[in-house]
Amino acid sequence: MMGCMGDEHVPIWLGSDTAHNARVWNHWLGGRDNFPVDRTVGDRVFGMYPSIVQVARADRAFLGRAVRFLAGEAGVRQFLDLGTGLPTADNTHEVAQRVAPESRVVYVDNDPLVLRHARRLLHSTPEGVTDYIDADVRDTAAVLEGAARTLDLSRPVGLIMLGILNFVLDDDEAHAVVDDLVAAVPSGSWVALTHPTLELGGEGNVEAMDFFNRNAKPPLRARTGEEIASFLHGLELVEPGLVSCTRWRPAPRDGAEPPVVAQYGAVARKP
Ligand SMILES: C[S@@+](CC[C@H](N)C(=O)[O-])C[C@H]1O[C@@H](n2cnc3c(N)ncnc32)[C@H](O)[C@@H]1O
Repeated sequence: MMGCMGDEHVPIWLGSDTAHNARVWNHWLGGRDNFPVDRTVGDRVFGMYPSIVQVARADRAFLGRAVRFLAGEAGVRQFLDLGTGLPTADNTHEVAQRVAPESRVVYVDNDPLVLRHARRLLHSTPEGVTDYIDADVRDTAAVLEGAARTLDLSRPVGLIMLGILNFVLDDDEAHAVVDDLVAAVPSGSWVALTHPTLELGGEGNVEAMDFFNRNAKPPLRARTGEEIASFLHGLELVEPGLVSCTRWRPAPRDGAEPPVVAQYGAVARKP
């Protein structure tokens, strides 16, 4: 597939015939920044595990509610968004700056197409700032060094870690990512996290996840609620705690609770 420089909605061919998570995720979200190989893999996964589309959409809706909470009730004005994904509707800076136009937001991803589209993340309000770092989240020293160009790390930061720790396959390494980042920000900082699970109805995702890992990169994994909660040790979870991300402070509806999806979500404060 060919793309035109300057047309942000036509992906530039990156010389890859391998599906990439950021682009498959974009396909499940109904975006157009993906290649045929991403759609083929995404559709095969959907065929095996149709809830994946609800998971992706619920995760983005959680992002909106969690960032609105952080920028609003919690008064956070700085955000570090790790594993940003391709720009879509309601990116972190748009949600935060609607509440507080002076919000400063740094995005981090290591996918080449996300980098290609990063300028769409840089349309900040005049009062605020956005920046993008092309880095692997596992290199927390590089992430923090880059973030410090835009964020004052002596003041509270909202660490947005949605659908990213699942790409850090080794438990110790995943804990080190969270621990390093939390240690680098002061009391009054926050973590918002989502993570896929084989619980909450995700039991049927084993075959689809295995297919994804054989046909796309980077590989990912699920974790149990207990394992995911352990990333937030030493932090104070706000109500309702670690739950299906659809059930985290859902918008008021007519009686019925939103359906559960196999993606845990939580927001926690550093005491
Ligand atoms: C499932 S998407 C989630 C996007 C967004 N956070 C959301 O919740 O909608 C995961 C993103 O993490 C990125 N990613 C995966 N492994 C990464 C790593 N080691 N370092 C930086 N980004 C990574 C992928 O490129 C992809 O854009």
